[in-house]
Amino acid sequence: MLYLLFVSVVLQTVLVGCAPPNSRQKREEGSFCILHGRDYSHGENFTVPESGPCVTYNCNHGSVRPIKLECRDGQGGCVPQGSEREYFCRTEVCEEWGNTIGFRTLHSSNCRDQFGECHPIGVPWTRDCQTYVCNKTNRNSFQIRTIAIQCQDAYGNCKELGESFIYAINRQLYNDCTCRQEGTRLRYECYT
Ligand SMILES: *[C@@H]1O[C@H](CO)[C@@H](O)[C@H](O)[C@H]1NC(C)=O
Ligand SMILES: *[C@@H]1O[C@H](CO)[C@@H](O)[C@H](O)[C@H]1NC(C)=O
Repeated sequence: MLYLLFVSVVLQTVLVGCAPPNSRQKREEGSFCILHGRDYSHGENFTVPESGPCVTYNCNHGSVRPIKLECRDGQGGCVPQGSEREYFCRTEVCEEWGNTIGFRTLHSSNCRDQFGECHPIGVPWTRDCQTYVCNKTNRNSFQIRTIAIQCQDAYGNCKELGESFIYAINRQLYNDCTCRQEGTRLRYECYT
């Protein structure tokens, strides 16, 4: 199983620039701003749907500037720049770059297994009598390797390959069963 971790970020575009006053409006030039067809009074602080609730703009004499840049926390709230979070086994930080703000991967030192659990590099874990370890193969890619294989008897206990144990096939218990490895799979056999 190879788990590649991608740098995925939820970006919010920060809109910058000056919106020219609409000539059809009778109000005095410089007393308001227009952004995305909506107008705002001089001094007004506002958010726009295009960049979400975590970017606040200010209208200043006809030009719009972002005055507060934060990241969405994914639960309807906002978190300031520099905030870190654990996300899909990665550590991410809220950062502004270019005209965007979002979470950037800071470092990743975990594998994510098929159950969504994170496992740090080099620390083995066992599930269903198989032992795995997370190995780093690249800067941002990790691999889960199987390092030990055991059989599992009818009661969930782990048994060595070749050892005799009780096993259930089609809900019928057999006393003399064993298992061996065939490629990447385990083959169970019972003797009657
Ligand atoms: C807009 O935000 C700035 C900075 O937080 C604040 O000083 C100012 O009072 C706010 N203006 C209004 C109209 O709320
Ligand atoms: C981890 O991966 C590297 C590169 O593929 C390899 O050289 C190393 O032997 C691996 N370690 C383990 C414990 O599998």
